[in-house]
Formats: sequence, structure tokens, C-alpha cells
Amino acid sequence: MTLPENASQDPVHRLVAEQYAAALERAQKRQGAGCCGGSSACGASAALAGYEAPSEGAEQAAAASFGCGNPLSFAEVLPGQTVIDLGSGAGYDLLLAAQKVGPEGRVIGIDMTDAMLEAARNHAKAAGAHQVQLRKGLIEAMPVAAEQADWVISNCVINLSPDKPKVFAEIARVLKTGGQFRISDIVAEDLPAWLKASPIAYAACVAGALPESLYLQGLRDAGLVDVAVVSRLVYDPEQIRALVETDFADAGLEPTLWNSLIGQVSGKVASVTVTGRKPEAAGCGCAPGCC
Ligand SMILES: C[S@@+](CC[C@H](N)C(=O)[O-])C[C@H]1O[C@@H](n2cnc3c(N)ncnc32)[C@H](O)[C@@H]1O
Repeated sequence: MTLPENASQDPVHRLVAEQYAAALERAQKRQGAGCCGGSSACGASAALAGYEAPSEGAEQAAAASFGCGNPLSFAEVLPGQTVIDLGSGAGYDLLLAAQKVGPEGRVIGIDMTDAMLEAARNHAKAAGAHQVQLRKGLIEAMPVAAEQADWVISNCVINLSPDKPKVFAEIARVLKTGGQFRISDIVAEDLPAWLKASPIAYAACVAGALPESLYLQGLRDAGLVDVAVVSRLVYDPEQIRALVETDFADAGLEPTLWNSLIGQVSGKVASVTVTGRKPEAAGCGCAPGCC
């Protein structure tokens, strides 16, 4: 597996890319075996993530979804607009965005994992979604020029980043003035130190999750405004099990640690969808080069 050039030094990027390439392979095997219950929410069910039944042509992408929410259900995306999906995975949200922007619009998926990019390309081609482009890269250094997006969406990805302030700054950079974001992600309060140090819990979207208040503050610190949580689902023990189990139960977590994990994070981990926008340019007071 080759990661984007600027990622190869970071062990977190490598761990996450390896785990998601393997999780995708397991999801594809399940589909190949005729198992229809897809993986989602880093392992939770599609219903838990808030999706309706997938439309025709999008079933395979839906079954390989690892999201924890449905960011587009909170977005009034219009035909002809540009949507950028951070950590687009196997591409289910890309297909949903393509339906909204129509043939004149543009949908850009960014992901660092080759297997995910390939799966998303195949799913977009099969669905005839020609307006979908896939770009290999990091969400901490997006392969996109500034001020391109009417919408930035992301589904269960930023918790996996080792440098979240950089991701928030990149969202502000690639959004057009007035452009909006809709992000579904995991947040977590007071996780025990041993859990935060677990690579599998990290890959399963738990150990790297920020407390909700820090997440919102990070977006505001990047200059984004109207930052608000529009949906929140605090996971119960069974939902935590679903979050991690489908895709990571056979990824090397010992059973005792596994049960401990579920017991200790119950009530502390939630899926949230966060909305906000990049503000109109502020009055600049005629600083040199500004007016
Ligand atoms: C939990 S999966 C979610 C995938 C997709 N959003 C979905 O809802 O199915 C996380 C995805 O983000 C990608 N990813 C994680 N960290 C990334 C980073 N720093 N830069 C680019 N992609 C990243 C992984 O390769 C994986 O495809």
C-alpha cells in the first residue's frame, strides 16, 4: 500500500489506512458471500447511521459504508454546486451528493487509502455518476485549490486524524466564502488512558475522538461560524459493540480488553452531526492589499 507522500512518516496515517483497507476487504467478502447487512458507522448498522434504503445502483457502496451519520440529510445541496467529501471511503456519500448536484455539479472525494479510492471509483462508474472525482490525499493537506466548495461533508473521518486543527483549517481554506459544512463524526468524553493508547480502538473511531466542546471550538478557531450540533446519538453498550465489532472484532483486540472497552466507554461516546459555514469576508478597514 502506498500512502500519499506527506503521510508516509506518520504512523497514525499508516495504521488507519491499513485497518480500513482490511475492513473494506472484509466488507467485500461479506457481500460476496451474500451477506446483505453492510458495515457502517465504523461497524454500526446503516439504520444507526441514519440512512434510508440505498437507491438502485448504490447498494454495493452502501454495504461498504463506514459512516456514523448521514451528513447530507442536513444539507440543502443544489444542482450545479460543488461538494467535497473528506475521507470518502467506498463512496456512498459521493453517490448521494452526485444525485443532489446533478450532471452539472461536481463531487470531489478525498481519501488516502488506495483500496477505498478504487472501490469508490468502481461504485461511481457503476452508478453512472460521472461528476464524481476521486483524489488521493490527506484531509490535513487537501489536494484541492482554495475556495472551491459550496459544501464540505465528512462522515466518521476527522476523529481518525492525528492533526485535527489542520483539518479544520483546510475546511476553511477549500470552502467558498459563504460555503457550508456538514460533518458527522464521533466525539467522546473522558476516555481512559489505556483505551486512548489502543491502536484498534483508534482505528474503530473511538480512541482518537475529541470531546464535543473541543471539536466545536476547533472549527470556530479555524474561522468557521454558526457552528452547531444538529443531531447527537449517545451510544449505549450494544451500539458501542456494533460500532467496533463488525469491522474490528477480528482485528486483534483481546476479548478481555474488548469487554472492558464496551463497559468503560458506554455513555461517553456519541455520533454527532455538526453544521456551520465560512463567513462572508469581514469589513477589512482598508488594510493595504485588502480593499
Ligand atoms: C471510517 S471510514 C469512513 C468512510 C466514509 N466516509 C464512509 O462514510 O463510509 C474512514 C475513511 O477515511 C479515510 N481517512 C482516514 N484518515 C484520513 C486522512 N488523514 N486523510 C485522508 N483520508 C483519511 C480512510 O482511508 C477511510 O476511507
